[in-house]
Amino acid sequence: MKLGYEEAGEGPVLLLIHGFPVDRRIWRPQLESLATLRRVVAVDLRGRGKSPADAAEGWTIDDYAGDIAETIDALGVHQVDLVGLSMGGYITFSLLRMHPEKVRSLVLMSTKAEEDGPEAKKGRDDNAALVREKGSEALGDRMLQNLLSKSASDQVKKDVADMFRSIPPDSAVADLEAMRDRPDSTALLASIRVPTLVIQGEEDGLLTLEAGREMAAAIPEGRFVSIPGSGHFVSVQQPRLVNEALRDFLKDVTTG
Ligand code: MLT
Repeated sequence: MKLGYEEAGEGPVLLLIHGFPVDRRIWRPQLESLATLRRVVAVDLRGRGKSPADAAEGWTIDDYAGDIAETIDALGVHQVDLVGLSMGGYITFSLLRMHPEKVRSLVLMSTKAEEDGPEAKKGRDDNAALVREKGSEALGDRMLQNLLSKSASDQVKKDVADMFRSIPPDSAVADLEAMRDRPDSTALLASIRVPTLVIQGEEDGLLTLEAGREMAAAIPEGRFVSIPGSGHFVSVQQPRLVNEALRDFLKDVTTG
């Protein structure tokens, strides 16, 4: 399916894929700031925001990547600079497997290539049961402290909690199941042939900096930048530093 999105600016497309359980609004600071450099497109994944879907069931990360491929075609371009935040990063790996020719450069933000182990899979099922019983909002109590570090402003906390609340429960459950069943992408890293930036918050409650550095080192043209004073959702927690890192990276990418 072709996804709904918000855009700003002109020129080569920079396509932003949000994480779980949020939506395109996690990219507000990037839409505003990077529009002088690119046509910035922040999509809503299927089943939320501007991308409603009928039956949220049995979705796979490949399905989400297929939606991104269709959306790139619908934008009328052959290639994009692609940014994936967390679950968005899992989707970029699928897109690279399916359509590497559509990716001009890659930013892996707060994400990892490994599949879920048994404990993580059980965590997905527990979270899905919680959402079924109490709605998406209930994820906030369980997840927010891992996604935002202590220094997050009240406004950022409120904005992120609002996003949690607005995801339809069926879509949240479908996301959790898709992440649980995603394939391991570690072997893919060495085959990534485009300039790649790995960005990670220094206070990320889900990922270690060492793992981020290792992922960048496994990618032939990989670079690593860590963001001080930020948890997992770096795009809203330290927008100035993240935008600076993105600008530095993008100015070296040949857009042809
Ligand atoms: C995300 O931020 O997209 C998710 O928390 C990632 C995950 O749970 O693996």
